[in-house]
Amino acid sequence: MDNQQFLGLIGKMTLEEKIAQLVQLAAPFYEGVSDEGQITGPMEAMGITDSMVTNSGSILGYAGAAGAIAVQEAHLKKNPHGIPLLFMADIVHGFRTIFPVPLAIGCSWDLELAEKSSEIAAREAAVSGIHVTFAPMVDLVRDPRWGRVMESTGEDPYLNSLFARAFVRGTQGDNLKEEVERVAACVKHFAAYGAAEAGRDYNTVDLSERQMREYYLPAYKAALDEGCEMVMTSFNTVDGIPASANEKLMRGLLREEWGFDGVLISDWGAVKELIPHGVAEDEREAAYRAIRAGVDIEMMTACYVHELPELVRSGRVDEALVDEAVLRILQLKDKLGLFENPHRGANPEREAEVIFSREHRDAAYELAVKSTVLLKNEGVLPLRPEAKAALIGPFASSGDILGPWSWDGRKEDAVKLDRALAERLGEGRLTVAEGCGVESGTEEQLQEALAAAGGADVIVLALGEDSDMSGEAGSRSDIRLPQVQLDLIARIAELGKPVAAVLFNGRPLDLHGVYDRVDAVVEAWFPGSEGGAAIADILIGAADPSARLTMSFPHSVGQVPVYYNHYNTGRPQGAPDAQVRYVSQYLDAPNEPLLPFGFGLSYTTFEYGAPALSSDEMTAESPITITVDVTNTGARAGIETVQLYVRDVAGEVVRPVRELKGYAKLELAPGERGTAVFTLSEEQLRYHHSDLSFKSDPGRFEIFVGPNSRDTSNASFKLI
Ligand code: GLC
Repeated sequence: MDNQQFLGLIGKMTLEEKIAQLVQLAAPFYEGVSDEGQITGPMEAMGITDSMVTNSGSILGYAGAAGAIAVQEAHLKKNPHGIPLLFMADIVHGFRTIFPVPLAIGCSWDLELAEKSSEIAAREAAVSGIHVTFAPMVDLVRDPRWGRVMESTGEDPYLNSLFARAFVRGTQGDNLKEEVERVAACVKHFAAYGAAEAGRDYNTVDLSERQMREYYLPAYKAALDEGCEMVMTSFNTVDGIPASANEKLMRGLLREEWGFDGVLISDWGAVKELIPHGVAEDEREAAYRAIRAGVDIEMMTACYVHELPELVRSGRVDEALVDEAVLRILQLKDKLGLFENPHRGANPEREAEVIFSREHRDAAYELAVKSTVLLKNEGVLPLRPEAKAALIGPFASSGDILGPWSWDGRKEDAVKLDRALAERLGEGRLTVAEGCGVESGTEEQLQEALAAAGGADVIVLALGEDSDMSGEAGSRSDIRLPQVQLDLIARIAELGKPVAAVLFNGRPLDLHGVYDRVDAVVEAWFPGSEGGAAIADILIGAADPSARLTMSFPHSVGQVPVYYNHYNTGRPQGAPDAQVRYVSQYLDAPNEPLLPFGFGLSYTTFEYGAPALSSDEMTAESPITITVDVTNTGARAGIETVQLYVRDVAGEVVRPVRELKGYAKLELAPGERGTAVFTLSEEQLRYHHSDLSFKSDPGRFEIFVGPNSRDTSNASFKLI
């Protein structure tokens, strides 16, 4: 359809019918509607009428082709204009085949596998009747108290932007009308949801516009530059106004400056939440603020359908605002081909073929291996072939390794660590004991674990957080492992045997009582459906750990927020002329995190040569090339992620001590030397000045190359 046809259709619709297109209801609303027009369950509670459902524009949820086909058919029979429903859902890191959580995927630094994971997730969603996924979530994160850090790819705007693009590419493909087994993406949560004060979910965000543009906004922009079809508002305030009512952010930046003309959907209930936020007295004011901000779809509250008719008829809201929202929604439906094919990819036969297929699970396995970070290893891993091992801990046999937002993922489907390790070690070489629960335990469990450990040469502890200890509304003020697990570690460590700890968690943890008590630490995050197999292969050395952290691990929560791309301050600790006391430091802790951004170990070792620059001067017309030789000095092959950081020594505003500007993966055999080559241009040195102009300044820059953001060798050049 073209715009004239849309405008013709809109012209035939009543005001109420148009406004109903702007509401999104969850699946039960469509189950509750009966032919007698009875209002049942949630509808009554929300004051949703049968006609509002009949004319609604989109549905949240639904997993299953047959169900989606039935609901769409019923809807089309009732909708007076034959306008199909959009089916939307949170397919964040897999539909039924669950991939590692996005924070783990970020640690893979593997854009191809990230894109592939989104393509597979989209395929499984599309054949099950979904048209839009509420992903990627690209909120930059610096505070591990916040439960939703597991949904992000980390603390760096450059890397987050690369992943945002990869996720959108994989989700949407090149042509949504033709590729019915891709779905539309919806980048979220716009904007800066990850900066919630104190890491408490839904809490206030208050940042300078410059800070927003430098750190928090780039990844949303990258997703939109990649063609992302939708944007979701965030729950939080932005400069004192909740995002869903923030005209400067939505109409000013998103639509006018960035030129986004797609569909903007509120987060769940975020329009009505303008009332408790204190920027709307009632639903009428909430509807008024949101429509003026350009929110096209109100998710799961009814301010629009209840209040917009009167707001328009009284002249307070120009009907054109409603029409433009309806137009954008119809255009999205058309892009998805729903007017020609309202069932799109929904296909029970394809469901049976592709859902949780071996091919999909193999991809999940590969990404789980590439997302697992080796944080410590003092001669314990990989496990010696003849060793007798004891696997102990609440995650030894747990299926709770899919993580939050695992849509139709099933814990019973997950490959558990105990089975995978037993298969690999062989008969009689593995004993398993739970030792304790995630947050509680018994003396009997402990004794059983000590007995199992007593008969083993090496102990593998499987520890971590329940998946509901992170994710939405999963903020924690104490980010250590639960005490019962720390007690278990202490008792096992007393045996004086080699101990490796595998962590299943949704955030960087305070590793006191872990990192200092065991010989090896493997960060598995929530590795997904094939997690147990991936971790077992890494433990026995059938696979190599190569992932690198994309979010810092603090020494303690007292350091938070701690991140690598920080400013230097006027009294940096450790400066040549620094005083002992009067510098920016803690009396009781170091400034640096326990484990920095970019950190990760391999089963081999690498040696770096000095970085070589093609010139010590750069101009806007002539970029410089940076090369660095890396040698595998160990006895096993390995993959090294060589990282390039830059520092603008003096800017018009203060500049971060390091900024990631590129990375290169080198796969090297033992003894092999490779060369990482980077091109650095003037464009990559641009930043927002105090007047928000985006440009570079001539002057001296330092470059840092190394295996992480801390252990680097440097050189310098001048931009002239
Ligand atoms: C939730 C989340 C959002 C999700 C939406 C729909 O509250 O904040 O990420 O997409 O509701 O489930």
